[in-house]
Amino acid sequence: MEKTFAIIKPDAVERNIVGKILTKIESAGFTIVAMKRIRLTREQAMGFYYVHKERPFYADLCSYMARGPVVVLALEKENAIADWRALMGATNPANADEGTIRKEFGVSLEENSVHGSDSPESALYEIPYFFSSLELV
Ligand code: RTP
Ligand code: MG
Repeated sequence: MEKTFAIIKPDAVERNIVGKILTKIESAGFTIVAMKRIRLTREQAMGFYYVHKERPFYADLCSYMARGPVVVLALEKENAIADWRALMGATNPANADEGTIRKEFGVSLEENSVHGSDSPESALYEIPYFFSSLELV
């Protein structure tokens, strides 16, 4: 079994589609082993996305992620990291395949509704950024 980390981003929480996204996650065979609704400060968003600190979109991305509540999740499944990336779809919803969350719900390249760890190393950084081991059940 593998764990990955997911965020339902502000654009999706604002539109009250958390439940629709959770249904897709559960229907695809993921177990939600941790979940909470929080509001990130801009500094917390910067720390979370520090790998992108040199990228031109970093400042906007951190402001967007702090503009309203998010739902953070740890998901468990065989092959969870790759399978969650596949269910999310391409970063730009315009390029996302049919049946993916970003295709169905994404608004734009930035406001693309969900986040997912892109590697085992990322998951190991991202899960403990939000959850203690006692919260993973
Ligand atoms: P994520 O980390 O959120 O799962 O998304 P990702 O791997 O598909 O894409 P990544 O390259 O890691 O980018 C992180 C997030 O930054 C925003 N973004 N904006 N304006 C832009 O050019 C741009 N490019 C990326 C998106 O919210 C993207 O998910
Ligand atoms: Mg990424």
